[in-house]
Amino acid sequence: MVKNKQFLTDVIEGLSADTKHISSKYFYDKKGDAIFQQIMHMDEYYLTNAELDIFESYKSEIAQLFSPEKKPFNLIEFGAGDGMKTKVLLKELLTHGVPFDYVPIDISQNALDQLNKSLTKEMPNLSFKGIQGDYFEVLNKLKESNGRRNVVLFLGSNIGNFTNNEAKSFTSNISDKLNPGDLLFIGVDLKKNPKKILLAYNDPKGITAEFNYNLLRRINRELGGNFDVGQFEHHPTYDPVTGECKSALLSKIDQEVEIDSQTFHFAEWEPIHTEISRKYSLKQVHQLAKASGFKVKTDLFDSHKYFVDSVWEIV
Ligand code: AVJ
Repeated sequence: MVKNKQFLTDVIEGLSADTKHISSKYFYDKKGDAIFQQIMHMDEYYLTNAELDIFESYKSEIAQLFSPEKKPFNLIEFGAGDGMKTKVLLKELLTHGVPFDYVPIDISQNALDQLNKSLTKEMPNLSFKGIQGDYFEVLNKLKESNGRRNVVLFLGSNIGNFTNNEAKSFTSNISDKLNPGDLLFIGVDLKKNPKKILLAYNDPKGITAEFNYNLLRRINRELGGNFDVGQFEHHPTYDPVTGECKSALLSKIDQEVEIDSQTFHFAEWEPIHTEISRKYSLKQVHQLAKASGFKVKTDLFDSHKYFVDSVWEIV
């Protein structure tokens, strides 16, 4: 079996740590992408509809923000996924009559291929320049700006997967690579009733649980692991103080798991931390903008104010 070396190294490192952990970036193989698409269509996962609501309500204002003088620009998107929401914007921009390159960046080559396929079909006039990679790696390749305005999209509250410090270094890193007048358009899930948040990560049909279990299944498939997935339980929690919605997989029994001829011991109810989906107050969103060298240009909300698309500018 040809193994994904980085994946193997990270899994071994994470499962050897005192508090076991595996990065949520490994959720997104072909199976994980498909489960995430199901999540985005669940009623409980309010984030997608909230951001779609913003796009539908403000699409012409957004087009105006991105290209006030109708000058060509680069539309760079981190973590494009299936582009369901971005399509609303792309269509609006195309009818706006401004030339732009659409540069989606995703850790999943599979997601990019599918996106390219569906966009070529739906919008044959779109200039598509997708790049596969880890955000942090790809950021360094983005220095070339061909004199155009760069507009960076970071949608869907993907920022929530970062800790405070990671979020700050990520947005600072982006601001370092941008020029005055460039924009960061960032979607952030806001603090709200904890019950609503928890339900979005603990849906009754167990789709989110499957999303987490797929990580163990992926280790079995790609790294030759022997996880008995039925002996683990999906366990999300939400802490309104820190705003962190955390997911963990708990070992239901005392057990051993083998991966690449290494044995890992799990005590009964020992967790593997898999994901943080952090929720912000609007004030924290603005503090993040300022701390990373941006000025907040405007905030766009859905009708329930569940979510914000905050538009930040380099000054
Ligand atoms: C794609 C990272 C924004 O954290 O809400 C959905 C992923 N995890 N359900 C999120 C996810 C569980 C999602 N992000």
